[in-house]
Amino acid sequence: MLDQAHGLRALASQNRDERKAATSPSLTEKSSETFAQAVVTPPAQVRRARVIAVTSGKGGVGKTNFSSNLSLALAETGNRVIVVDADLGLANLHVVLGIYPQYNLEHVTHGDRSLREVLCPGPNGIRIVAGASGLAELADLDAIRREALIESLGELDALADVVLIDTGAGLARNVLAFLCAAGEVLVVTTPEPTALTDAYAIIKTVYHENPQSRLMLAVNMAQNEAEARSAQERVVSIARRFLGTEVVSLGSIPHDPVVGQAVRNGKPFLLSYPSSPAARAVRKIAHQLTYSAPAPAEVEGVGGLLNRMQRFFNRHLGGR
Ligand SMILES: Nc1ncnc2c1ncn2[C@@H]1O[C@H](COP(=O)(O)OP(=O)(O)OP(=O)(O)O)[C@@H](O)[C@H]1O
Ligand SMILES: [Mg+2]
Repeated sequence: MLDQAHGLRALASQNRDERKAATSPSLTEKSSETFAQAVVTPPAQVRRARVIAVTSGKGGVGKTNFSSNLSLALAETGNRVIVVDADLGLANLHVVLGIYPQYNLEHVTHGDRSLREVLCPGPNGIRIVAGASGLAELADLDAIRREALIESLGELDALADVVLIDTGAGLARNVLAFLCAAGEVLVVTTPEPTALTDAYAIIKTVYHENPQSRLMLAVNMAQNEAEARSAQERVVSIARRFLGTEVVSLGSIPHDPVVGQAVRNGKPFLLSYPSSPAARAVRKIAHQLTYSAPAPAEVEGVGGLLNRMQRFFNRHLGGR
């Protein structure tokens, strides 16, 4: 156990060092700068990934199918995308993407592999961090393992423009840790009244925990445009009225049989049915995210997420 703890700490500090090396110019780079450049050039901009957590109040509304196909659509528009399966109960993102990675998050929490080593290439150049079914709740991991996992997530900043995190549903502490820490939270709902109520509950909790985060909404499995629009308007107007906050509506994905068919074929619908209504809708949302609702001016990247996750656990577990 002691050896493992030591290994995990070493992994965490190795990640820290790698990140520093990736973001600070080397001595030789610096010395080759002219004096004028050194004076007028602002400090090298640290590139940070846009971190978007995809979640829902009610389970089974289509988060995983949506996140995996959205990640492919975001890659089509030129983004370097990493998608993380943070559903620690039922990890199935890789199944929807039709890939079977050798390593997953459990190897990271055990200290066997760094996060960089478990990244698995997927279609369209995306990379995936596969989840592990039945992985203990983040909150239940001992502090050292949790710290190793949180630290290692920081590596992703240098490797991606967008990090999409597919979470489990609901208000479990484990899910909330990701939601309350992410710069942007994309809530998926169906038009059903129960799903809308649960979507609002998530929005309210995230808003109270992290009022700075940008809240976004997508309606899935709508029967038609009118139903989708009415669902969006209900959530947006309730959040405006009771929380005084704006939820950005990204659009909707229709109910489309190709979604289930694509999973059965082992090939995401964006690739296997590229001109289906679902694929066109997901591309439109990717376009919205990239151009109409681009990253907020101050992207804190995965580093910001980590700090807030640590604070979340300190608050809710008293530092355990
Ligand atoms: N737009 C859609 N049209 C038709 N079926 C859909 C659509 N989106 C998702 N589904 C179906 O809904 C079911 C649940 O999808 P998915 O697993 O993506 O949901 P989830 O929100 O990730 O679930 P969980 O809460 O268990 O993580 C699947 O059978 C999927 O095929
Ligand atoms: Mg899911």
